[in-house]
Amino acid sequence: MTKHVPDLKAQKISGGVASDQRHDSAHKHVSGTAVYIDDMPEPAGTLHGCLGLSTATHATITKMDLVAVRAAPGVVDVLTAKDVPGENDISPTGRHDEPVLADGKVEFYGQPIFCVIAETREQARRAVRLAKVEYEQLPFVTDIGALDPRKDKLVTPPLTLKRGDAAAAIKAAPRRLKGKMRLGGQEHFYLEGHIAMAVPGEDHDVTIYSSTQHPSEVQHMVSHALGIPSNAVTVEIRRMGGGFGGKETQGNQFAALAAIAAKRHHRAVKIRPDRDDDMIATGKRHDFLIDYEVGFDDDGNILGVDFMFAARCGFSSDLSGPVTDRALFHCDNTYFWPAVHAQSAPLYTNTVSNTAFRGFGGPQGMVGAERVIDEVAFALGKDPLEIRKKNFYGASGDKEGDRNITPYHQTVEDNVIQRIIAELEASSNYARRRREISAFNNNSRFIKRGLALTPVKFGISFTATHYNQAGALVHVYTDGSVHLNHGGTEMGQGLYLKVAQVVAEEFQIDLDQVKITATTTGKVPNTSATAASSGSDLNGMAAQNAARQIKDRLTNFASEKYQVPRDQVLFLPNRVRIGNQEIPFGDLVKQAYMARIQLSAAGFYKTPKIHWNRDKGEGRPFYYFAYGASCSEVSVDTLTGEYVVERTDILHETGRSLNRAIDLGQVEGGFIQGMGWLTTEELWWDDKGRLRTHAPSTYKIPLASDRPKIFNVTLADWSEANEPTVHRSKAVGEPPFPLGMSVLHALSDAVASVADHRICPRLDAPATPERVLMAIERLKREAARPA
Ligand code: MTE
Ligand code: MOS
Repeated sequence: MTKHVPDLKAQKISGGVASDQRHDSAHKHVSGTAVYIDDMPEPAGTLHGCLGLSTATHATITKMDLVAVRAAPGVVDVLTAKDVPGENDISPTGRHDEPVLADGKVEFYGQPIFCVIAETREQARRAVRLAKVEYEQLPFVTDIGALDPRKDKLVTPPLTLKRGDAAAAIKAAPRRLKGKMRLGGQEHFYLEGHIAMAVPGEDHDVTIYSSTQHPSEVQHMVSHALGIPSNAVTVEIRRMGGGFGGKETQGNQFAALAAIAAKRHHRAVKIRPDRDDDMIATGKRHDFLIDYEVGFDDDGNILGVDFMFAARCGFSSDLSGPVTDRALFHCDNTYFWPAVHAQSAPLYTNTVSNTAFRGFGGPQGMVGAERVIDEVAFALGKDPLEIRKKNFYGASGDKEGDRNITPYHQTVEDNVIQRIIAELEASSNYARRRREISAFNNNSRFIKRGLALTPVKFGISFTATHYNQAGALVHVYTDGSVHLNHGGTEMGQGLYLKVAQVVAEEFQIDLDQVKITATTTGKVPNTSATAASSGSDLNGMAAQNAARQIKDRLTNFASEKYQVPRDQVLFLPNRVRIGNQEIPFGDLVKQAYMARIQLSAAGFYKTPKIHWNRDKGEGRPFYYFAYGASCSEVSVDTLTGEYVVERTDILHETGRSLNRAIDLGQVEGGFIQGMGWLTTEELWWDDKGRLRTHAPSTYKIPLASDRPKIFNVTLADWSEANEPTVHRSKAVGEPPFPLGMSVLHALSDAVASVADHRICPRLDAPATPERVLMAIERLKREAARPA
């Protein structure tokens, strides 16, 4: 390593905010030198765990014969529910409905019922198969299509949002229609699967390296499961190989079991499920059944909307409450519903408990809104884009404040969707291509093209208000180098880098002077999950706050020592001007140390303004919104249903971006992941409730070759947060995900062309080639039927 030599003449530091920096670990990701938990050197004598999964869907366990398992080579221990020394529960919201290991009763096929601990991973995996478990089957339900969202069992209380009298508005409307949409779930498919390694210490102590987005929660779960206080448990994570929401709660189980075994045997224990077990035993994105009814006029003005969002939650609540709530919070997307009634039904099913996934239910809500728009457009024979524009918040010269109120009574104050749509419409040549595509379709017998432009508005903040807080810890060492720690976790999204840029900017030192360090509950306590896209908003502010405290002390010190007023102490790039002289930053730090000035600070931040009353369905759950839009063109082979995304144009806003290189990656990746969700990624449970799509052989995520052939992604350079967020940037983690909707709607447009755009295709998602083909056949039949 070369020694850092700061350029004392530089006009700007290298790597401050609003500069394009590559991901701090990019070179390590691609060269295999980034250390993930499975790459860490194992302590001598490390044992390995493997989960034994239920082979019944809903049953009482009548007999669990583990004699052969215990006798298998290398097996040291087999844990069952009775071996959990504390509470056998890892439910994240305190509903006590999710055991670490099933106790006497199983509620889904694949539920963990025991855990083998062996000398090697291979031995543990082989031993698991020797278990003989007998069940008494109970009736089960896996598909929400078979349930009544108003009567059947829910895992958590439902939410209702309402403004105005939707039923009356729909009834009085000149036109109305009803429909239903099925919307699939999604496997996270992080490249690094779940993993936990527990290293026992003295007394009650245990340290867990866990691939988790929520170290504090893992700490609490382990402490409950072991029956020991939180102060004995330390959870650390340097990086995840992807989380996408799948590691917000789902790591608890592996961490708890590894910790229990580590304390029993005084040896380190590692659990890394293989991909199939990871896919079967951990939760996914919720699939939904959306019922909608809409009243509108002949011009396409929507007058009233009624939604029922029924979700497959699985056997326990997990995060289903906040996920289904967020679906309702986004059932307006960018549209003003004059009268609206929306209800959620978080349904109990005998499937794995569904969990957070990028967008956290928001994308499901938006898909409902966009389906309503499509229905109205088809009913009136208009281009859906025209209906979209007509119904946007603040559309067509309406008064300020009017037509800007969401179904949860928050006023939209920062709306930029009109500008985004206008710019994207122009840059993508929407109108011209719409005409060209019509002409193409008229002349092409089997290949049909489709085009769609869809908007996104995503609410930023955790809807659980208390989660909107963060802490950071900053040390300045006597050589002027900085050690940075905060509560956020790194999953590839570039959070560590962004927060380091904020700290470099604050001290005016080069980025390579700021050391990024692993997240640990021992340095910053009581953290929130890195989720809801709020990582850089929250932790960036907390770190800035810590750096400012130290800067403040340095300023006071310099002002006293050099006898100049405080305002004559200026932090310039890598140096400090004190009155008439300039000294390197490191020199001032050394002098301050000699004068016994504290060079370490804990920072804190909490989001202002937000509040939410769930019982009333009113408040300001979101600090601000992030907006974007995408325009996609597809070509569909109407004989096979196969399709190609020909071109996608995206315009997305990220405020005054902290790092446009990272943000572009988030927008591209989010779009592709959203497209995968709505097109090829299909979860399929058989009639016994077994998930049959549990490996890449049967579950198709987008490949590099599925990328749009032409892919133009632009960040709105004029964008700026209207609230004082960190350097006026906006969150970018989740908002681009629903940009993938334009592909679904472009497919719908192509399908509709086989019946002259007179019939709404009502395409369910994922719109796999099979579904597209079936929709084409249905439309052809309906079009041929005499009126
Ligand atoms: N990007 C990468 N590369 N890997 C991930 O796992 N997770 C997404 C998003 N972008 C994810 C990602 C999700 S679900 C969220 S909530 C945000 O990143 C979390 O990080 P942030 O709050 O720092 O944006
Ligand atoms: Mo993201 S689903 O909020 O982890």
